[in-house]
Amino acid sequence: MGNSIQDSKAVSPFQWPIPIPPFVSAGFSILLPPIQISGFSMLKLSFLLTLLSSASSGLWHDEAKKSSVGIYPPACTRIECPVFDVIQLGNGYEIRRYNSSVWMSTSSIQDISLVDATRTGFLRLFDYIQGKNSYEEKIEMTAPVITEVSPSDGPFCESSFTVSFYVPKENQANPPPAKGLHVQRWKTTYVAVRQFKGFVTDSNVGEEAAALQASLADTIWAAAIEKSHPDSTTVYAVAQYNSPFEFDNRVNEIWMQFYIDDDLLVM
Ligand SMILES: *[C@@H]1O[C@H](CO)[C@@H](O)[C@H](O)[C@H]1NC(C)=O
Repeated sequence: MGNSIQDSKAVSPFQWPIPIPPFVSAGFSILLPPIQISGFSMLKLSFLLTLLSSASSGLWHDEAKKSSVGIYPPACTRIECPVFDVIQLGNGYEIRRYNSSVWMSTSSIQDISLVDATRTGFLRLFDYIQGKNSYEEKIEMTAPVITEVSPSDGPFCESSFTVSFYVPKENQANPPPAKGLHVQRWKTTYVAVRQFKGFVTDSNVGEEAAALQASLADTIWAAAIEKSHPDSTTVYAVAQYNSPFEFDNRVNEIWMQFYIDDDLLVM
């Protein structure tokens, strides 16, 4: 029983306490005039701005160097996140189990920059939750937004990125379809997680992913990850939770997904 579930997190109902500085609405309306600036949509926008601003925030670079595991992402106390069980807190990694979750995903985006690909993908998903879907239905913002990375055969060292939005429980039975997006229904999925603070940049993502891989070396999880990705390409995802106006308590994660038989956990 020693390695069984240590913790279980439940999701709080939506709350949006983040104050939005007034200059933001002015700045943003220049960028994207058609969006109504209600308090609520501004908060969705703040999420978008995280992604838009994440490349250029050298100020927070030192923050980004500190890493840790075992922090429940603070954003998930305000907005809906997929629930998970912590299976093991290891040295530099955390193993989670997501029983099932539903994601709305872009088709793959070829780019040399994860930050740029995430912005491209997020703009599509942002339109989707704003009502650009077959049902013209607005959908609540959730966290995290994940960017799955896989190497691609394309020229110029491009990678292939899929950006996904966690579909709120309320919409999981029947997520509105939308052109260019598809639904992913995850069966029970295990994820090796490394957390890092600050803003996501193209350089820190690679470093953090390498550090996660190193911390998993010689564990049973490394073997399970390899087995789940038989083409032996390094496949990972970056999970982002925060708005750009949260300079404290920013938590991002590198995810390496895998599948195992539950009886492997009875040790
Ligand atoms: C996941 O499923 C297991 C087994 O059915 C259950 O014990 C656990 O509470 C579930 N976890 C969550 C977070 O729902």
